[in-house]
Amino acid sequence: MWDRKDLLSIDQLGRKDIDSILKYAEVLEPYSNRGNMLDMCNGEVLARVAFEPSTRTFRSFGFVIYKLGGWSDSIYTPRDSSMEKGESKEDTLRTLEQYSNIVLIRDAEVGSVARYADLLDIPVINGGDGSGEHPTQALLDMRTIEKEIGRKDGLKVVFMGDLGNGRTVHSLIKALRKYDNNFFYGFSPEGLEMPGELEGSDYQPLSMDNIYDVVPDAIYMTRIQRERLKSEELREKFLAEQEFYKVNRDKMSRLPQKTKVMHPLPCVGEISPDVYNDPRVIPFVQVRHGLETRMAILALMLGHEDELEQMCK
Ligand code: NCD
Repeated sequence: MWDRKDLLSIDQLGRKDIDSILKYAEVLEPYSNRGNMLDMCNGEVLARVAFEPSTRTFRSFGFVIYKLGGWSDSIYTPRDSSMEKGESKEDTLRTLEQYSNIVLIRDAEVGSVARYADLLDIPVINGGDGSGEHPTQALLDMRTIEKEIGRKDGLKVVFMGDLGNGRTVHSLIKALRKYDNNFFYGFSPEGLEMPGELEGSDYQPLSMDNIYDVVPDAIYMTRIQRERLKSEELREKFLAEQEFYKVNRDKMSRLPQKTKVMHPLPCVGEISPDVYNDPRVIPFVQVRHGLETRMAILALMLGHEDELEQMCK
């Protein structure tokens, strides 16, 4: 069972924890809309620290703490702070801890956020640690799957793209494994396969042609994470292959009506603009579901479970 001090990995959560977060997301959704808000987290402060670029994770958390009645401060780049003068990340975080109730941290190195969490007494949310994990993205993806597909078990999910470095994939496959009879397929360039420890008897690598035979409930795409590739040579090699790991009008026409195309974003060409309007293509629906899901995570980690339960009655 999750102790809620930190949210670093999906490994910390049981199925019951995920179900509770999704249940609270459902009752919080009306308050995530424009014009509505709550005062549940009145006076509480979220610090957001992105040592690596972020659009959705960083900004949506800032937006939703406000919707819960709280406030957020942020450091986006070292230039924003005394890190520019050589101060350490650790001292920067120790400083923010004095002003905040909870902190969201993103950094480029696997395991770094867990290390920061050991230093701090306030709860820490992992907003992405290199090619490690991105648990809040997985939870919003689970919310999207529940709402848009209608169930969280008995699913066939194809993961496509950079499965080696895509941290959202790593967290999502772990979350889906908490449920029954889910099967996974991977379509990735050679060298960017799913890490061995995440493969299993429920996982099978595929080629694009086989994807049509699988009749997937969802295709979960991810960009080639070029900033994590070790050499220019590798970057060029994978960029040349990128064409195979895209969806376009031709591929969409061969996919069944029920198949949803998900993407954590940023999309850098993996979804061709001419299929953005296809109702099966739902990355911005995921963004939308990120709001109430992250409201639920924050409210729970800030100790508001009783009020959340009350709202569910
Ligand atoms: C992803 C990330 O940062 O891991 N984006 C996100 O947070 N939604 C995906 C990516 O960078 O490719």
